[in-house]
Amino acid sequence: MNSNEPHSPRILIAYYSHSENTQEIALKINEMVGGEIFRIEPIKEYPESYREVLKISKEEIRKNYKPPLRKKLEDIEKFDVIFIGSPNWYSTIAPPVVTFLSENNFSGKKVIPFISHGGGEKAKCVTDLKKMIPEATFLEEIVVYGNHIETISRNSLNFGNID
Ligand SMILES: Cc1cc2nc3c(=O)[nH]c(=O)nc-3n(C[C@H](O)[C@H](O)[C@H](O)COP(=O)(O)O)c2cc1C
Repeated sequence: MNSNEPHSPRILIAYYSHSENTQEIALKINEMVGGEIFRIEPIKEYPESYREVLKISKEEIRKNYKPPLRKKLEDIEKFDVIFIGSPNWYSTIAPPVVTFLSENNFSGKKVIPFISHGGGEKAKCVTDLKKMIPEATFLEEIVVYGNHIETISRNSLNFGNID
């Protein structure tokens, strides 16, 4: 391939999911546009109990704690378009996603955030995410209630060719 010509974008779909809704969205996006999937996983997993995870994550968000991750993304350089998924936790993105953002350089990347929520829509998730990686170029986000992946439109996945 001539590097000066437009090529089809190389896509990464990175996400954190606690109860698998965000994962379902990630898999749906993958089915629609292809690309590689990267599951963001904290070394210390959150408990399954809703009450417990509410308590722990509230404290982490308050302290801006970045939980260490099980694995690092090897080479962000090879991607052009990066989907970043998180559940809405207390109106913002989940702490493991914050760690992931802090460990990678998104300059020159087109980023499409995707958020799963329980009724509060995207709240501050997208604005907070944008503040954390101002070097990225942001495209329209995808916001899904729970795991209602049928609401994802093909138009929202249109990111064009990459120069
Ligand atoms: C710790 C915690 C905090 C949450 N805070 C919110 C919230 O502020 N607003 C909202 O709409 N949903 C909230 N939810 C619901 C999740 O966003 C929703 O269930 C989402 O689909 C979970 O995605 P997941 O299955 O990928 O973890 C919260 C869930 C948890 C566990």
